[in-house]
Amino acid sequence: MTTHPIDFERSRSDEPKMAALRDHFPILSREVNGASLIYFDSAASSQKPIEVLDAMTDMQRNEYANVHRGIHLLSNAATERYEAARETTRSFINAASADEIIFTKNVTEAFNLLAYSWGQENISEGDEIILSVMEHHSNIVPWHFLRERKGAVLRWAPICESGVLDLEEFERLFSPRTKLVAISHMSNVLGTLVPLAKICRIAHGHGVPVVADGAQSAMHMPIDVQALDVDFFGFTGHKVYGPSGIGVLYGKRALLDKMPPFLGGGAMIESVSQDDVTYGPVPDRFEAGTPPIVEAVGLDAALKFMMEVGVDNIRDHEKTLLDYAQNRMNGLDGVTLYGTAPGKGGIISFNLDGIHPHDLATVLDRYGVAVRAGHHCASPLMKRYGVDAMCRVSFGLYNTGTEVDSFMVALAKAQRILA
Ligand code: ALA
Repeated sequence: MTTHPIDFERSRSDEPKMAALRDHFPILSREVNGASLIYFDSAASSQKPIEVLDAMTDMQRNEYANVHRGIHLLSNAATERYEAARETTRSFINAASADEIIFTKNVTEAFNLLAYSWGQENISEGDEIILSVMEHHSNIVPWHFLRERKGAVLRWAPICESGVLDLEEFERLFSPRTKLVAISHMSNVLGTLVPLAKICRIAHGHGVPVVADGAQSAMHMPIDVQALDVDFFGFTGHKVYGPSGIGVLYGKRALLDKMPPFLGGGAMIESVSQDDVTYGPVPDRFEAGTPPIVEAVGLDAALKFMMEVGVDNIRDHEKTLLDYAQNRMNGLDGVTLYGTAPGKGGIISFNLDGIHPHDLATVLDRYGVAVRAGHHCASPLMKRYGVDAMCRVSFGLYNTGTEVDSFMVALAKAQRILA
């Protein structure tokens, strides 16, 4: 496959440049149900550029072996590529040290690690954890585990009708028992971005650390964990144009150093005897067993691709698309758009009067349009808006205004068929 060099001016995103970038994504040229694919489901998982596919194939064809174990050439080469991925990830989120980057299976595992390991040391009966009502289940259920197992109390920050986090109510939730804030940086349903740096300042004022769910934000905007001063930050490979099977937990070194291991096994120990075990330093302590080696190489390629395109450019392009699509959708009869927070990311959740979102998504698929419908693993948020399900359009860097136009035609047809 021939790809164009990445050429994306900082100041402007326009369709010809996007068309050149689209050629990096082989799947986008396929048809779905006889129509050109319009992939509007990147918030669930993004498509992969040829750079990622090639890097993963090349690694397996030419440099594959297990990492951190061998003294042979291939093992050393594989270890170098695995650790290079850690350094690229560090640079992508501007962590102070590559040792603060832990590779996990996904962001869900990152938060389970944290709840188990940090929670074991820091949570006692009656301690409180503040969440927002727009959390994904991956940033809810691990904290419920601490409620069930250790008697933690979950306290919920509300949002306004527009989807903006109610900061005053959030601040009111702090008490002397508050031990952690666990909050989504960008809602996977509403696209709302929370003011994370401010949230960290407020929480730190109470001596409380913050874990941010960056699963959505990391694919849409530049992340600087040091500028945000966030204590823990999780994101996942498959949403940042990389492979599934790898996630990232960033944690401040001083906090990670004090945390006991999550999974036990090879590669995470310092010594093991019949009577005793001692654990290795971070990040090894949290990477038991053979890690996601090929996936790390894919993640490395994905993050380099994003940085070369320019994460600012991606954000600006998606904002242009979002504004255009929201304006067009606002004109539809019987539409409810959920989440109109200023500065939100490229996600539009909506319902059409009298039409179940699953039916709508099924008919849109017949026209080649891939959207997600359901509760989006955000049940407390569905309850907040009094619905069981929503239909969701989510953009990636490869989407275009022309696709939005085709989607609007498909949506009007679906509305006529289903109404
Ligand atoms: N968290 C993913 C989504 O929102 C799966 O669709």
